[in-house]
Formats: sequence, structure tokens, C-alpha cells
Amino acid sequence: MKVLGINAIYHDPAAALVVDGRVVAAAEEERFSRRKHGKRPLPWSAWELPELSAAWCLAEAGIRPEELDAVAYSFDPGLMVTPEETGLFDDGDTMRKRYAEMAPDFLAHALPGLDPAKVHFVKHHVAHAASAGKAAPQRDNAVLVLDGRGEAHSHLAGRYVDGQLEILAGQSLPHSLGLMYEELTDHLGFLRSSDEFKVMAMASYGKPRFLGELSELIRATDDGGFRTERIDFTEFAPRLGRGDDWTEAHADLAASVQQRLEEVLVDLARWVHARTGEKTLTMAGGTALNCVANTRILAESPFEEVWVQPAAGDAGTALGAALHVAAELGERTEPMPGAALGRGWSDDEIQRWLDTAAIDYERPDDVAEAVAEVLADNGIVAWFQGRSEYGPRALGHRSLLAHPGFEANLERMNDVKGREQFRPVAPMVLLERAPEIFSRGPIPSPYMLFVHDVAEEWRERIPTVTHVDGTARIQTIDPATEPLVHRMISAFERRTSLPVVVNTSLNTAGRPMVDDPRDALECFGSAPVDLLAIGPFVVRRPRRTPRP
Ligand SMILES: [Fe+2]
Repeated sequence: MKVLGINAIYHDPAAALVVDGRVVAAAEEERFSRRKHGKRPLPWSAWELPELSAAWCLAEAGIRPEELDAVAYSFDPGLMVTPEETGLFDDGDTMRKRYAEMAPDFLAHALPGLDPAKVHFVKHHVAHAASAGKAAPQRDNAVLVLDGRGEAHSHLAGRYVDGQLEILAGQSLPHSLGLMYEELTDHLGFLRSSDEFKVMAMASYGKPRFLGELSELIRATDDGGFRTERIDFTEFAPRLGRGDDWTEAHADLAASVQQRLEEVLVDLARWVHARTGEKTLTMAGGTALNCVANTRILAESPFEEVWVQPAAGDAGTALGAALHVAAELGERTEPMPGAALGRGWSDDEIQRWLDTAAIDYERPDDVAEAVAEVLADNGIVAWFQGRSEYGPRALGHRSLLAHPGFEANLERMNDVKGREQFRPVAPMVLLERAPEIFSRGPIPSPYMLFVHDVAEEWRERIPTVTHVDGTARIQTIDPATEPLVHRMISAFERRTSLPVVVNTSLNTAGRPMVDDPRDALECFGSAPVDLLAIGPFVVRRPRRTPRP
């Protein structure tokens, strides 16, 4: 059984392919089109499809469009209500509905040979839910979808028992934790439904002194849902334009909203635990990328485990929709094998790219050792290995790496990437060494979706990755699943006694993550990076001036 999943309606268009119950490919359109987030989430872009990523998924599996058993589209226009009934008064919804209704025809046009009758509409939050509850390794679980909006709702609480979803609660619009956080993102001068993680980073610089006022405006209800009243953020701090300097009041506002969000999410988790008694909570939806909140849910709710879909934003609904429809058609689906579901290249293919670029390169005995050598000498390395990641985080396949032992490297990395200086960078750590350095968040933590406390005695040893509040958003590296990355960090540890390297995504500001070898060469060519490690090859940067 072959099911293609499609996310297209709002942002982060993506495609995923499930064959005989197994996830074989998943990728975001931005990695192909080189346009960050694929498109802006505007009503008149709702028709645009992830054409390139969908075509690649099929090519990767050697499948023609006419051979698909189903296409799962992660939005059901039949469930939409009027702009007045949502309470959002968004006239664009009329256009979104029309475009979504026409999606089967658009898809048949984009994938010649596809029968439009094979397109299934999947409720947006059922697609998010499946991306968590059916992709997680724990087959039975409680599930929370924490989103901006779907057809008429912003959240779903439920459980998966033997692969079947039981929906227990759903908060209808206009109440939405995701839209409330987007509003704040906009108020603070950042890009709505894109830069929410910057608000989370800013929150760690502030004090939650507005918590009292916000508690009434944002609150959980006893039916598993919540209320988000309209908040005039100017009462707390003036609106900022793009690039304006923020003040203490802005950081305090971010801290207050962040903390209130965390409290409400913990309440929602407690409710779904009380209704299900499950050991494991799975989560998806854009708000589930809030790793500070995720950590509080793990610490303060009764769940023993929390598993978050690494592509928790709308991109993940392509995967979830495909898993959901495959199950509806009678397939027993398997958990996702990991996040490395995108494009990859053979050594020969990579070598051809390097030859085409007419650039000097070497093939060292072991690329892991060659990289560790440069990192130990405080060089910056662009690391391009294996298949690219599904979701917004670099997880050791398309990464910029650096030495974590120098405080100045945070500014250096943010300069290389051309991004704000208050943004933290994160560590990758050998799984077996993680418990002595990091606490509070879960270990293993393979997808960077939780924050951890850095042990006091380690903060001075790894200052680059220790955030201002003594935390770090770690990725643990398991030798069983990431043998090459594990070998590289082990080689770095032999030279420096640090089992940790700095890991940030391989891109520069405002651009999608590097995906193919040409992107890697372009990024390497324009950024002051010392070494590009691409497959088994390395390209060194000759310098006319000494390295900082
Ligand atoms: Fe969503």
C-alpha cells in the first residue's frame, strides 16, 4: 500500500511517503524551493502544493503517481465553519476553503497520472495527532495537539490504543494558544508563524512580572480545553518594528506569556493523563516545538515519558496524514525510523558535485577524525552527512559545528549565520556522557525538543552552549543510530576531553537549511567556515587573514 501525504494549506508545505506501513521519505518543500517555510501562510497561497518534495518522495521510492493507493491531504475543507463562526473573522478562510476543495485537481495536475478521486481529506489535527501518536515508538499513548489553528479548532486531546485514535477534547476557535503566541511574536517585531522560537529565547532574559494579569486571560478549563481572551500587549510593552531594540519590559512580557503558556500546557497534560492513565504523552502542533514548555510538561505532569514529533509544525502533518490514511485502508503502520527522512547522496554523486565545482578536496582516512582535528583547533565545520532532517532542527546531518569551550564562539556562530546575538546555540553530546553533564530534561533526547540544566561544574567548560539561564537544548548522540556523528564527537573528546560539540543548522539567516551538495558548496563559499565535511570528503578554506 502506497500513501503520499501532503501539507499545503498554511505554511511549511511538505510531502511524506508511507509504503506498506513504513515511512520511507519525508521532506519540506523549502529544502527544494530554497524559500524559507515554503511560502507565507496567506489565503491566496493556500493552493500552492509541495510539488518538488512530492515528486522527490515518489522518485525516491520508484513509484509513479498512478501507482499510489491514496493521497492524504492534511486539511478537510468540509469541516470549516464561516469566518464569523470561528470568531476570527478571517475573510481569507473563504478562499482557503475553495482552494482546499480544489486540491485533488491541483494535485492531479502536479502529479500527472494521479487519479483525483484517490485524494483523502484528513482533519488537520487528526493529521498532527497521527504524526505524534502513530509515529512514536510507544504504540499506546495519550496525545496532545497544540496548534495555531486547524479547520475550526486549535487543539486536540486524545489517545491511541492499538493504533486507533480516540478524541477526548478539542478546543474550538477563536481560542488558540498558538495564535496567541504568534500575536506576541508579531508584537515583538518578529515574523509571525516563523520566529516564535525567538520569543522563547527572549523570555529567558526577562522576569514574569505580568503573570498575575495574564492568568485570567489565558487559562485551562475543566473540559480539557482552555480560554485565550484577546490581550492588548501594548498595555505591557510597546509594539516593536522589525529589527527594533527590545527593552526589559519586552523581555518581561515574553517571560510572562511563556510562563503562563507552560502552566496551561501542564494543566492540559494533567487532564489528558487523568482521562487516559497512559504512561506516555505524545505531542505535535507548532506549540510543541516550545522545548521549555515540553520540559515542564515532562517534569510536572504525571506522564513518565513525553515524545514530541520532530516536525511538530505543519510540515509534520504530511507524515501524519499519510500514516492515518494508511491505517484507515487497513495497513498496520510502524513508528517513524528517525528524522533523517530527506534527500541523501552516494559518495560518487558527491564527488561529481565537487568535481563540477572545480574545488580542491581531499578524502581523508576518516572524515570524523579530520573534522575533530579542525574543531579542536577552534575551527568551524560545515557537516553534510547522510539524509537530510525532516523538521526545523539540524540533528547531525546538515549542521554547523564548533568548539563549545570558548564563550566567544556564540557570537562567532551567530555572526557566521547572520542572526541575533541573543539566540543560543545548542550542544550535541555523546549519549553515554550526557547524564553527568545535563539534568532535568529527558535523556536520551535525540530531537532537541527539551531543555536541560547544565551541571554547575560544566558551565565554564562548555560556555558556548550554556544559555544565560544555565540551560542547554541538547541532542544526545546514540552510537547505534548515529555512528558517524558519535565517532566524530568521540574523536573531539580524545583531543579536548569534552564529549560535546556546538551544533546549529547549516544555513545562513533567512535561508532554509542546506539540503543538497550544491547548497552546501554555496553556503560554504559565502560563510567564513574552515572546513566542509561532505560525505567522506573534506574541503578546506584557504585563508588570507588569520582566523579569529
Ligand atoms: Fe497545524
